[in-house]
Amino acid sequence: MTMKPKVLLTRALFPEAEALFKTDFDLEIGNKERMLTREELLEKVKGKDAVITMMPDTIDRALLDAAPNLKIVANYAVGYNNIDVPIFLRRNIPVLHTPDVLTDATADAAFALLIAVARRIIEAHAYVVAGRFKAWKPALLLSQGLSGKIVGIVGMGRIGQAFARRCLGFGMKILYASRTRLSEEKEAILEATYMPLEDLLKTADFISLHVPLTEETRHLIDRKRLDDLKPTAIFINTARGPVVDEAALIKKLEKGEIWGAGLDVYENEPDVPEALRQLSNVVLLPHVGSATLEARLGMARLLYDGLTAFFSGKVPKNLIPEWKERVKDVPFPLIPTQ
Ligand code: NAP
Ligand code: GLV
Ligand code: GLV
Repeated sequence: MTMKPKVLLTRALFPEAEALFKTDFDLEIGNKERMLTREELLEKVKGKDAVITMMPDTIDRALLDAAPNLKIVANYAVGYNNIDVPIFLRRNIPVLHTPDVLTDATADAAFALLIAVARRIIEAHAYVVAGRFKAWKPALLLSQGLSGKIVGIVGMGRIGQAFARRCLGFGMKILYASRTRLSEEKEAILEATYMPLEDLLKTADFISLHVPLTEETRHLIDRKRLDDLKPTAIFINTARGPVVDEAALIKKLEKGEIWGAGLDVYENEPDVPEALRQLSNVVLLPHVGSATLEARLGMARLLYDGLTAFFSGKVPKNLIPEWKERVKDVPFPLIPTQ
């Protein structure tokens, strides 16, 4: 009988998701209540064939050096900016992630933030809860409508396009900036107009970020670009905090130089600056973009399928793009190199 692959799941998910991994793998759960410390992670990964990692886990050369048996990494997220990809390519260790299954959940979260900021939903809720709703007033909590507005989408990939579909349904005009232009057919379906980022920021009423965090996108939205926004602009970020100069964004919000912001991600998570938490023109979420039961279970299934395929010598479907490219010209199964 062959031994089951030894797998470290760096922290507990939830029972249905963990159950998937328990039959086919010799599973160790790092911690039930919290993320592992760096030292704990490097210790627990020793002797493992695979590791299922969370966004806050830094997956780098030191981790590889601590885990000489490691053959594959499975990241419980679609974004993989926590992983030092070149070293995993060099050492022949594939990396899996969770595209598609969380696209709708994350686009919904971005859209929920947009409606909540535009319609002042949180302020209105607080007003009622505080017992202040004593009389109907014509100008109470006047807000911004969505239909007819111009939305600027930055990063038109899976989630950006899903967000665009929602905007289209609400009668908005769609502009987008992205590394690669969509096909004419896709642009026609989404009624989306391609535009350089600088122009998009000046033109859009609402801006929503959907780029990954990379060296090119770090502070893509810096102080100067924030200054290009309209005074009535609403800024939504469900991508990654460091894509935006957070301190500069807070200044603009404090001065009322933009209408408001809806944020699910922050520059130094889980730190959310006090100054941001004091503002009334923001809606703040604790990085829950993909946190529906459906998406989070789908993410576990996708990683399970990928790991199972890998350990039976097949090419997993959910390799990160750099690895998808790579398997075009390296034979599979792979021999890890140290
Ligand atoms: P995706 O399909 O890869 O889309 C990313 C898009 O950004 C692609 O169109 C890509 O262009 C574009 N892009 C990449 N680098 C760029 C650059 N330097 N300038 C302009 N555009 C650039 O990824 P996705 O599935 O939509 O996910 C996007 C990101 O959302 C993830 O990386 C993650 O950080 C974040 N996310 C957050 C949550 C949450 O809980 N808040 C949940 C899921 C995802 P190409 O077409 O040329 O590649
Ligand atoms: C969540 O932020 C993800 O990248 O999946
Ligand atoms: C408002 O409730 C209206 O009937 O116009």
